This record gives sequence, C-alpha cells and structure tokens, in this order.
Amino acid sequence: MIQGTEILRLEGVTKTFPNGNEKLVLFEPIDFSVNIGDSISIMGESASGKSTLLHIAAGLEKPTTGKVFWKHETEEKDVFLLRDSEISKLRNLYIGFIFQNNFLLEDFSPLENIMVPALISGESIKNSKQKATALLEEFKLDYLASRPVGALSGGEKQRVAICRALVNGPRLIFADEPTGALDHDNAQAVEDLLVSFAAQGRCALVLVTHNPEFASKCSIRYRIAGRRLVKDGI
Ligand SMILES: Nc1ncnc2c1ncn2[C@@H]1O[C@H](COP(=O)(O)OP(=O)(O)OP(=O)(O)O)[C@@H](O)[C@H]1O
Ligand SMILES: [Mg+2]
Repeated sequence: MIQGTEILRLEGVTKTFPNGNEKLVLFEPIDFSVNIGDSISIMGESASGKSTLLHIAAGLEKPTTGKVFWKHETEEKDVFLLRDSEISKLRNLYIGFIFQNNFLLEDFSPLENIMVPALISGESIKNSKQKATALLEEFKLDYLASRPVGALSGGEKQRVAICRALVNGPRLIFADEPTGALDHDNAQAVEDLLVSFAAQGRCALVLVTHNPEFASKCSIRYRIAGRRLVKDGI
C-alpha cells in the first residue's frame, strides 16, 4: 500500500428518506475522496447525516443518487453495481467498521471475537488465532485474551472491537463515534491508536466524532453543515 493512493471515492452522493408525506433530504450531492494515510474526521450536528454517510461509504446503505468506488491497486469497484454477497465479501476483507456500541459477541472470548472476520474470510483457525493473538499483543490486551467479554470494561471492549476491525488488515477503517462511551483516558488511548494506524500508512481512517479534540488529531477535518460536506478551517 502506498501512502497517498486513493482508496475510496464518492461521486455526487445524495440520500433522501421518506418522512411521512414529505421527504427528508440529507445531502446536496457530495464528492469525497480518501487516500491511504489520511485520517479524516467528520463532525456535524446530530441528525445531519454523519452515520448515514459512513454507512453509504462502507456499502452498508445505498445512496439515493451517486456512486461509491472502492479502489485497490489498479482495480476500481463501483460498489452498488456489485451483488450484495460480493459487497459483503469485499467489506469483510478490506474495510473495518467500528461502532459506538462495539457489538462484541458476549458469549465468546476477546480472542474468539477478533478471530471471527478472519475465519469468515476463509483463514484457517490456526492463522486466525495467530493474527488475533498478534493484535492483542500489539494493543497490550493479551492479559484478557480468554476472559469472558461480559467481564470487560467499556474501554477494554472498545479496544477489542478495534482489534476485530483490524484483523484482516483493512485498508479503510470507518469509526462512528468510537470513543463516545469511554472516559477521558480510555478515549485518548483509543483515539491515539486509531490515528497512529493511519499515520503509519497502514490504512485510512474516516471517523465521526462530536469531540473537537479528537477531530484535531486527524489530518483532514470535515463538517456536515447545510446538507454539504465542507472542509473545516477554510
Ligand atoms: N432508515 C431511515 N429512515 C428514515 N429516516 C432515517 C433513516 N436513517 C436515518 N434517518 C434519519 O436521517 C437523519 C440523519 O441520521 P444519521 O443517523 O445519519 O445522523 P447523525 O448525524 O449520525 O446523528 P447523531 O450525531 O445523532 O448520531 C436523522 O434525522 C434520521 O432520523
Ligand atoms: Mg450517528
């Protein structure tokens, strides 16, 4: 992966929801591009469409108009022309999604949770376990590898969820208020980890946050305002 290579592009994306007899129009056409090494923050008022935009970019929700392209080396995929099964396959391989609520499987250990996307992608149990173990070590979480997820603190759970999002080595990480439920110290630790992953050129990070401090750590800052995605500081 070469720093600066474009890996995601949105062209003319709009989203309209039915709203009783009316329509809820979230965006004027949005153009947006993401390169390897970018850490991008998106801020904006509640209900401005931040989560919806991430879902569209991650292929989880169709735009009303416009296109989403995922790029890898010389290949460029027009996401919503693909079959759902193909979108899911590519997403599992190339995209990590971190939600505010981590959605860990409570009946499984952290190690097992982290292994799941690797197993789905067809890795052997042995390889999946190796990858999950290496991530737990990198995040200094190996001490809780086999503790029940239900016993973990919120900060620990969120860091395990981040490991799970990273296990297949995604080029693109979407994070929707990943530190919203954490106390200050845990939030800082998670913020620094995510931003440093992108800064090392291991991926690109697209992050929704309400926290200006977190946004200020990112290399590019956007805001959704008046249905437009605008760059902050211009
Ligand atoms: N499936 C849907 N059907 C109808 N309206 C929807 C749907 N999904 C989202 N909306 C509406 O679209 C608007 C934007 O929602 P979204 O979750 O993207 O906002 P957000 O910027 O992430 O807000 P928050 O900061 O509160 O998380 C909201 O008014 C929401 O109610
Ligand atoms: Mg949201």
